[in-house]
Amino acid sequence: MLVPNHVAIIMDGNGRWATKKGLERSAGHLEGSRTLEKILFHAMDMGVKILSVYAFSTDNFKRDRKEVDYLMNLVVKFFRSKLDKINKRNIKVLVSGRKEHLNIDVIEAIEKIERVTIDNKSGILNICLNYGGQEEIVDGAIKLAHDINNGLDITSFTKEDFRRYLYHDLPEVDLLIRTGGEQRLSNFMLYQLSYTEFYFTNTLFPDFDKSEFNKALFMYENRDRRFGGLHEENR
Ligand code: IPE
Ligand code: IPE
Ligand code: MG
Repeated sequence: MLVPNHVAIIMDGNGRWATKKGLERSAGHLEGSRTLEKILFHAMDMGVKILSVYAFSTDNFKRDRKEVDYLMNLVVKFFRSKLDKINKRNIKVLVSGRKEHLNIDVIEAIEKIERVTIDNKSGILNICLNYGGQEEIVDGAIKLAHDINNGLDITSFTKEDFRRYLYHDLPEVDLLIRTGGEQRLSNFMLYQLSYTEFYFTNTLFPDFDKSEFNKALFMYENRDRRFGGLHEENR
């Protein structure tokens, strides 16, 4: 089976999942965090090396304070309670996003899980938190401008060189999954999605189980990725 190296998931639909069941939106986020744990280990079992997940966008700060606080506490709890398990599976955790507006306990939990798992080699979980794709490119451009001011020679600067100015130097995303029925990017990983295959499903994230994930893998296997080259029958 041709397995994508880097899979990214826009984990959408938690709120609707809860509302449909007559529960608070927070119940959907909690169930979504359980789904994330299952999907992470399953993806790694299937041979995926990097899993990037959209946990909280820069624009999600527009939501009620109560929901934002719940989500931030959930992230801290997730990092603290899953650290040992993730570490035992030899998975390295990276967090992508802006640190500004994050509470100190969130920052400490991020720093701890990144530090403890830094040498792990079996796979990478990249959690996008307070993340925006345009913000990532702007932040990278600012860093690059500083280096240019300090004498960096950019005569033969390439797109691969620019990748080192992003939050993390990760390879292109091979497969993007968005649950919850919307067919848009909502400002997710704009630099890394240039030749990515997209898979949209109406399934709400808390219901996105292993078999739903496998459907996306089967779809991926049957796509003809051309990267600007010729159709398969003409090669
Ligand atoms: C995704 O679920 C999780 C976050 C954005 C944090 P939503 O909370 O967007 O759920 P819906 O789209 O309202 O159902
Ligand atoms: C995208 O979902 C962000 C995350 C899944 C974390 P949103 O629910 O915030 O996106 P929109 O508002 O529907 O575009
Ligand atoms: Mg949503």
